[in-house]
This record gives sequence, C-alpha cells and structure tokens, in this order.
Amino acid sequence: MSAVRFLLNGTPCSEDGAPPSMTVLDWLRTRAHLTGTKEGCAEGDCGACTIVLGRRIDGSLQLRAVNSCLMMLPQIDNCAVLTIEGLAGPDGALHPVQQALVDADATQCGFCTPGFVMAMFAFHHGGEPADTAIVHEALAGNLCRCTGYRPIAAACRRVAHGPADRFVAELPALADALSALPVAADYRYDEQTFLAPRSLAALFAAMAQAPNDLARGR
Ligand code: FES
Ligand code: FES
Repeated sequence: MSAVRFLLNGTPCSEDGAPPSMTVLDWLRTRAHLTGTKEGCAEGDCGACTIVLGRRIDGSLQLRAVNSCLMMLPQIDNCAVLTIEGLAGPDGALHPVQQALVDADATQCGFCTPGFVMAMFAFHHGGEPADTAIVHEALAGNLCRCTGYRPIAAACRRVAHGPADRFVAELPALADALSALPVAADYRYDEQTFLAPRSLAALFAAMAQAPNDLARGR
C-alpha cells in the first residue's frame, strides 16, 4: 500500500510518512495530536491506551477494544478507529458510557479513564449480558490505581444494554465509507516494509518473494 488509509473518528485519514513500526498509540499522540489516549505501560498490561477498532465483517462493522500500544500503524489500514475524542456528541454531550462513569463517581485522577471508557464502549456495543463475570472480563485489560473497581464495574453494568447511542445510527455509514477505501497488501516507508497478506496463498507468496526481509522481521 502506498499509504495506510482508515477512518479516524469518522474522518477519512491517510498516512504515508510514518514508519510501519510506529505504534498506533504513538501515531495518535504525536501525529494526530489526540492525547486523550494515554500511555501507561506501553506493553499491553494497563489498558490506558485502549481504543476501539471497527472492521467490516459480512458488510457490517464489528467493534473491538484493542491496546493501541501493541499495534503497528499499518494494522489499522481499512479500519474505523474510534478514540476517546470521538465519543461525545457534536454538541459536547457526554456519551452514555462517560455519563455512567460520572454518575457512579468512577474516576479520580482520570489517567485510566479514557481506556475504561473505550473498553466500556466496546462492551456497550457487544450485546453481551451484564453478568458480573462478563463485566469483569470486559474490564479485565484495564487497570486503575486510585478509584477502585466497584464503581467502574457498576457504571459498566449500567450501560450494558443502553441507552442507545448515536453510533447505532452511524455505524452503517461508517461501514460504507470503509468499503470505499482501497485495501492493499503492503506498506513501505524508508527501508521498512509491512506485509499484510490476506490469504494463506498470499502469505506464502510474500514469504517466497522476500524471505530475507521476513527473517529479519522487516
Ligand atoms: S499503554 Fe498499557 S496497555 Fe497500552
Ligand atoms: S482514576 Fe486514577 S488511575 Fe484510575
């Protein structure tokens, strides 16, 4: 691919001037200047960097919370990327997940809060029951050092089945916009190459074409 193309909080975005080894977290904070997504551990343990990715599956958008510190930039090619900055309404109204955290007094210093909001947003759209074990599982990737988990879990239970948010109406349009983006199988910048084969046959072809690059992890 000549560029990584994706939707960032609904806006088409393209990046061709960043190394493929740059993490999505670093790109968000240093290139997009969206600093609501935090860096805690930078190794997938704390959840402070949680964002939500939407991928088209069978024509509709499937949302999933991910650790942006563990993802390389080309991995968001053809994805809808949702960050904490994109959740509030155009008029500034809090998203129901954010409001639930406020109502439950579930934040103190706030460092972990954007990550919890995004994990809860994905849970809110996942359609799973609000059983204690399932709520705990949904939040298991996020750590909080100061508030305590009881109010956070209570807020998550509260939003499990609503109220419906504006994304329910917006997701089909996002899926359509994604389908208009080109999908490519590699991204090259400077001396780095990211290969993204989309089938086993393409994977083996890539391995045959660039065995040395793969051996060096480039
Ligand atoms: S910064 Fe801790 S999981 Fe990403
Ligand atoms: S509110 Fe301070 S770390 Fe969670």
